[in-house]
Amino acid sequence: MTKGALRETGLSHDEIMGELEGLKAEDLKWRGGSAFSYVYHAGDDIERVGKEAYMMYLSENGLDPTVFKSLLKFDTGVVAIGLEHLNAPEGAVGNFTSGGTESIICAVKAARNYARKVRGIAEPNIIIPVTAHAAFHKAAHYLDMECRIAPVDTTSFKADVDAMAALIDENTALIVGSAASYAHGVIDPITELGQLALERGVLLHVDGCIGAWLLPYFARLGGTVEPFDFSVPGVTSISMDYHKYAYCPKGASVVLYRDAAVRHHQIFSCADWSGYTVVNAVVQSSRSGGPMAAAYAVLNYVGDERYLDIARQLKKETEIVIEGVESIDGLHIMGEPRMSLVAIGIDEGGPSPFDVADLMTELGWHVQPQLSMGDYPANIHLTIAPQNVGRMEDFIDDLADAYDRADEAASKKKGGFNPAAAMINGLDMASIDASTISEILKMVGVNGSSMPEKMGPIHSLLDSMPTDARNHVLTAYFNALYTS
Ligand SMILES: Cc1ncc(COP(=O)(O)O)c(C=O)c1O
Repeated sequence: MTKGALRETGLSHDEIMGELEGLKAEDLKWRGGSAFSYVYHAGDDIERVGKEAYMMYLSENGLDPTVFKSLLKFDTGVVAIGLEHLNAPEGAVGNFTSGGTESIICAVKAARNYARKVRGIAEPNIIIPVTAHAAFHKAAHYLDMECRIAPVDTTSFKADVDAMAALIDENTALIVGSAASYAHGVIDPITELGQLALERGVLLHVDGCIGAWLLPYFARLGGTVEPFDFSVPGVTSISMDYHKYAYCPKGASVVLYRDAAVRHHQIFSCADWSGYTVVNAVVQSSRSGGPMAAAYAVLNYVGDERYLDIARQLKKETEIVIEGVESIDGLHIMGEPRMSLVAIGIDEGGPSPFDVADLMTELGWHVQPQLSMGDYPANIHLTIAPQNVGRMEDFIDDLADAYDRADEAASKKKGGFNPAAAMINGLDMASIDASTISEILKMVGVNGSSMPEKMGPIHSLLDSMPTDARNHVLTAYFNALYTS
């Protein structure tokens, strides 16, 4: 039997479920609240509603909303809630998608085709601040568009409107701002970007994938939230994920448009083949009704009052983190986060954030190191979710401890030699082969899919490389990771 051959006779229900349960043991343990990012869990009852609704519509197919009318109701229902939440005017529209990345690809595709068809631009480009999510690079890559990257202010980490303006030319289809940015949790100057978009006749997309649902609740609780939604003139589309701070099962986002005439260019129709007519509003074609039904169910189950209450807890917990970090000598919060996303920076001369992150892992936490990029220093990111509520005082105690230990260790090993970094120094990354990359990765403890206990050396190695070299190494790593 070859490695991947399908078994001759199937396993029993209990056998296969047992295997699946067992495999979970290796996964990130998020339920106790000591891991950040990836999961947004606001209560077992909410999870149950999402799961049951998902299973009820598991087999229904979003391919054809004229046949599965229930799915059209879920889609338009959750879009309508999103439009209302973001102060959309009469005539605004949107679609349900599988996640932030798909919503962004849809918005960029609509902008590209709008630029081509309405403005007669043969090769439209998009302009993003360097802090915009990687999904915009991915959209430009998939849609074969030029993506121009503007620097941001190195203190506030907000988009620099003048730098964005300087990159606009007659081929610009779309400019982008975030509310909030993933890395630092800051809101770009959307009002000024809207003004710029109107003056220069381009579209403006606000990436609210992570922030657009939660930020209005933080505003109602007295938080500082700069205007970012459809009430801002010039904002033409917004992406907002329900599978983040709206606590819906994964596969749930919406892409919203001020004007149906722009959304028109998102839709793909194909009558040019011999099969059934294909009309797709979004990237996916056949898709389970599960995520839509679950999003509809969770939004209606939780309701406004409970969302506000959960936001209150998140806000308080974030304040504990911000005050706690600022009270630790040697650490600071980067920029002014407007929601429950923070980037913890290390003061000049301090230890590596990657070593601090490793020590936090030893103490039972899972934090997210972010690499440096030009003028923007490496840091430790936290996405604080409801399951982290109540744990942040302990977190701060452990962070202070981890920082002290990393600082002490760093002062002892000043000028340490990193053989992997030395090896890559001088290599031509563009032509480096897979086996050399695998050798480099082995030097920092990566062997196939097995990871070393300490991730610090890997992050330091990547951090020492230019971004194109990082991309090269990471692509080769993934190419090897998926072994079949
Ligand atoms: C601001 C922002 N945009 C886009 C995305 C991409 O979303 P997804 O992972 O659902 O594709 C994320 C994910 O964290 C995000 O924070």
